[in-house]
Amino acid sequence: ERIRELECILAEKDEEIEELKAKLDKFQSIFPTATQQRHLGTFGAGMPRTQRAQGISAEPNLVIGDPSLAQVRTYAKSEKTKTLIRQAILENDFMKHLEDCQIEEIVDCMYPVEYSNGSCIIKEGDVGSLVYVLEDGKVAVTKAGAHLCNMGEGKVFGELAILYNCTRTATVKATTNVRLWAIDRHCFQAIMMRTGLLKHTEYLEFLTSVPTFSKLDEDLLRRIVDVMEECHFEYGDYIIRQGAIGDTFYIISKGNVQVTKRKSASSEPVVIRKLAKGDWFGERALQGEDMRTANVVVDDTEGVTCLVIDRQSFTQLIGDLDSVKQKKYDEVPVQNSKSDGFYVGLTLEDFTAIDTLGVGGFGRVELVELKNDITKTYAMKVLKKRHIVDTRQQEHIKNEKAIMMECQSDFIVKMYRTFRDTKYIYMLLECCLGGELWTVLRDKGHFDDSAARFYTGCVVEAFTYMHSRGIIYRDLKPENLLLDTRGYAKLVDFGFAKRIGFSRKTWTFCGTPEYVAPEIILNKGHDLSADYWSLGILMYELMTGSPPFSGSDPMKTYNQILKGIDMIEFPKKISKNAQSLIRKLCRDNPSERLGNQRNGIKDIQKHKWFDGFHWVGLRKGSMSPPIKPQVSSSSDSSNFDKFPEDEEEPPPDDLSGWDVDF
Ligand SMILES: *[C@@H]1O[C@H](CO)[C@@H](O)[C@H](O)[C@H]1NC(C)=O
Ligand SMILES: *[C@@H]1O[C@H](CO)[C@@H](O)[C@H](O)[C@H]1NC(C)=O
Repeated sequence: ERIRELECILAEKDEEIEELKAKLDKFQSIFPTATQQRHLGTFGAGMPRTQRAQGISAEPNLVIGDPSLAQVRTYAKSEKTKTLIRQAILENDFMKHLEDCQIEEIVDCMYPVEYSNGSCIIKEGDVGSLVYVLEDGKVAVTKAGAHLCNMGEGKVFGELAILYNCTRTATVKATTNVRLWAIDRHCFQAIMMRTGLLKHTEYLEFLTSVPTFSKLDEDLLRRIVDVMEECHFEYGDYIIRQGAIGDTFYIISKGNVQVTKRKSASSEPVVIRKLAKGDWFGERALQGEDMRTANVVVDDTEGVTCLVIDRQSFTQLIGDLDSVKQKKYDEVPVQNSKSDGFYVGLTLEDFTAIDTLGVGGFGRVELVELKNDITKTYAMKVLKKRHIVDTRQQEHIKNEKAIMMECQSDFIVKMYRTFRDTKYIYMLLECCLGGELWTVLRDKGHFDDSAARFYTGCVVEAFTYMHSRGIIYRDLKPENLLLDTRGYAKLVDFGFAKRIGFSRKTWTFCGTPEYVAPEIILNKGHDLSADYWSLGILMYELMTGSPPFSGSDPMKTYNQILKGIDMIEFPKKISKNAQSLIRKLCRDNPSERLGNQRNGIKDIQKHKWFDGFHWVGLRKGSMSPPIKPQVSSSSDSSNFDKFPEDEEEPPPDDLSGWDVDF
């Protein structure tokens, strides 16, 4: 009787919930919610994007050799406190991904802070640089005036601020007296970068001490370092066993081992050698399956740590050892930006602005025509110098100019020359009147398989060109692809592009939240392979209208990215082959990513999703594009959104002379 009664009540409640849900949907379609309003530019999971995404970048990073890398200040604390902080970090969605040694250093470097009941620890909208661990007391979190949650001891908050200079996305107030531990971005990044660099340098030293590797090119060695993994073994463990077959090569980085061998099947093994730090064994495994001829047994009560390379990842990333020994990575010579004589003689006064093609925090992009030949139109990107200096983007802007002037590809927007005055930097660019791919995607909702393949193909061509010159792009997204009058896509906006060579890593956090690779979020150092990650994200967004990882604020997006592509359920709109390619591009481990292996970007072109794709036709421009833009004349800007005209003039800024090259 009672059960039936309860079931009735349950059914009524279910019905009520359904009704309320329907009402809620109706309201939400009319009124944007408070969070949607506050976070224009970000968007909820699965929601189509209605705002252009903003790229972000950390301040120019510490450079190798910076003294602040070597010395981070530590603060004494009790074991109990250390355990609490460590535990808090391990429970935090972002920080738990850090390596043990990094967590230990962070624990040591955190310093004490106290707030009294009622005071504001973090204020929404303020610029922040500290992350906190709550040791004692309680806090309340609010966003746009609405209460979100309460937090007690052992919780981490404010972690976005250690990634880059950003405004706080919520307010945190003390509701009792509280004791906290804090660390700032500078210190955090010094720890992350130093541990990464130290490890890299250490691995490199170990590698060069092995004769098999000692003669190899340094670029190649750096790539091998990327496939090395650390393994720990306990006292008495057999690392390898006589008579077994194996695919792995070992270098001892800590501890001692014994090499033992039995003379015949029935005899006891005898110790034939001892090996210590820097010694190696199992090297034949890199050439082919190795029949182990001895045992290697841990002979150290502390255990042994080895750096391990397995043949499969080695051959995938590098190739087979013999051919590798012959190989040299040639630097592609830097082309001098040969400015076309025609543009050298021009001044700003030779152009008239006809319309605005884009507006952003940086400034604006104008469609301009040449006064004495109005058939010649260009896109003039006008950047506020004040803004560049305030956001410390001088280096990025200089890179942008150097790289764009050098690039001569049909899949990259051309830059003809730059100008400057007291308030602005000007970049004279090829204009692409087909509009932004982003606008087209927004209006269509999503692309079908073959359209997505065409645009992805254009990006692959642009990356082939840049990567063969050791240039990383770092800001792929539909906003940065323009359609020319034919309907071909071209990359634009090289603010985050950088020449890094073929085996070097770079450390500055930059990109657009939905598109950054996990190693960028984790500050591990990233290379050309970060572009392949973003290519996978782009494919997904082109085919569905929204990127796979996207939270209501950047930190939520990053935490989703760190969980990985395997957590994402692909909608039916994405074909099986496309799905397979996306998953291969979005591997957490950069050395497993398609595009970053021994055949390079060719592996992407050869993937079955591209079977039958007319690469030559794409390069020659003979392939017909999926959408042919309507462009009536060289001054037709109708494919761009309308932007307001006036804008406050920025104050002049030409004090430091950083802009002399423009
Ligand atoms: C962070 O950004 C704000 C505003 O963009 C700027 O005023 C501040 O100086 C920056 N801080 C750092 C440490 O770069
Ligand atoms: C903190 O302050 C609030 C409001 O002033 C008060 O209601 C509350 O009791 C205080 N809590 C403690 C633990 O002192």
